[in-house]
Amino acid sequence: MATLAFDVYGTLIDTDGVVDRLREWIGSQAETFSQTWRSKQLEYSFRRGLMRRYENFAACTRHALDYCCAEYEVSFSAGQKDALLQSYRALPAFGDVEESLVGLKAEGHRLFAFSNGSSEAVEEVLQTNGLREWFEGVVSCDALKTFKPNPDVYHYFMREAGDSNDAWLISGNPFDVIGAVSAGMKSAWVKRSNRAVFDPWEIEPSVTVESLNELYEKVESR
Ligand code: LAC
Repeated sequence: MATLAFDVYGTLIDTDGVVDRLREWIGSQAETFSQTWRSKQLEYSFRRGLMRRYENFAACTRHALDYCCAEYEVSFSAGQKDALLQSYRALPAFGDVEESLVGLKAEGHRLFAFSNGSSEAVEEVLQTNGLREWFEGVVSCDALKTFKPNPDVYHYFMREAGDSNDAWLISGNPFDVIGAVSAGMKSAWVKRSNRAVFDPWEIEPSVTVESLNELYEKVESR
């Protein structure tokens, strides 16, 4: 049986879940605003990790929102920004998540949520989506005051879970998959869109799936 570390944002939880609310306020700019918000949030986490100027992931999210307002010349009120940040804490899960978690757990795999997000934020978003009960634990990079893909955080996960032989990262984020494989884990890339491109480095995912429902066979066969 394997130990499966599920990345949260972009894997279990859909960061584009803010688009509907954004569309009410900024119309057709909503999609690109949401994509820039997400990519800036990640960029800020990478830069803070490199610079060793840690602020938690929620701060990266907040600063990235401020950046997007400036780039897209949108002036949200403080109340609108709070509402957007609040919806981030209650983002929806992708449609394949619950069924696959139930199945993997029934097969005896150990399931963890493993995220850049603080334990509190991850607990909240999993509870909101009725998913918390399927996980043995939540492991947050916040404990180390740095972010993925620093190898320390993947080693920390393996120590926390007590498994370094058969530990898998399951992630929709190529940078996360590459970070995990580089640090000695196996990893499944969840290709959440036909247009998603995996970074053409020297490191590849152990397996690629298009839905979490394909995970069971792939993890078993490795
Ligand atoms: C996470 C990031 C990668 O949940 O979004 O760790």
